[in-house]
Amino acid sequence: MSKKVSIGVLVSGGGTNLQALIDAQSSGILKSGEIKLVISNNKDAFALTRAEKVGIKTAVVDKNGDTPFEEQIISLLEDNEIEIIVLAGFMCILSEKFVKKYDKKIINVHPSLIPSFCGKGFYGLRVHKAALDYGVKVTGATVHFVNEIPDGGEIIMQKSVEIEENDTPEILQKRVMEQAEWKILPLSVEKVCKSIGKGE
Ligand code: GAR
Repeated sequence: MSKKVSIGVLVSGGGTNLQALIDAQSSGILKSGEIKLVISNNKDAFALTRAEKVGIKTAVVDKNGDTPFEEQIISLLEDNEIEIIVLAGFMCILSEKFVKKYDKKIINVHPSLIPSFCGKGFYGLRVHKAALDYGVKVTGATVHFVNEIPDGGEIIMQKSVEIEENDTPEILQKRVMEQAEWKILPLSVEKVCKSIGKGE
């Protein structure tokens, strides 16, 4: 009998990348792993609603809570026996101690072709604004393992996206999501889960 890898997804906002993972689970693209828990640092994140709608357990962590932020996350991950962590629009930088504990077990999606427009301060719309300001003609998305360097871990997959005339950061963000992020994130998560090799 096959056993799926337990996935925990960390989110902060709208959760369209989480939705892409949920959809990939339904369509069978993501078959070697199963989303067991969604954790948000933002209690109002729509991503939480997306998870609840399909019966996935959710939790909220609080940067100002009595227990240190990352300890709250670790307890949730351990209590739920999570094996792979996916950062899907999680807008917090995790400490070196945290990422070392989960070496090659944390996957992040970033909305540019790393090493361009990445690192500290490059998140969300800021990334697309920087790409447009620079005048690049091609951008894209990258899925990578997380290490102690922000956006510096080993690349798992990348996909390029053309910049078009009259693009705004908002228009470009949507195209990068549709053409790249929502495709390569589920494929990468499946690849990593499959490589952990718990199947059959
Ligand atoms: C996505 O574009 C994701 O790549 C980006 O934030 C957006 C979250 O959207 N993440 C980063 O910039 C991390 N550095 P979502 O909540 O709809 O998935």
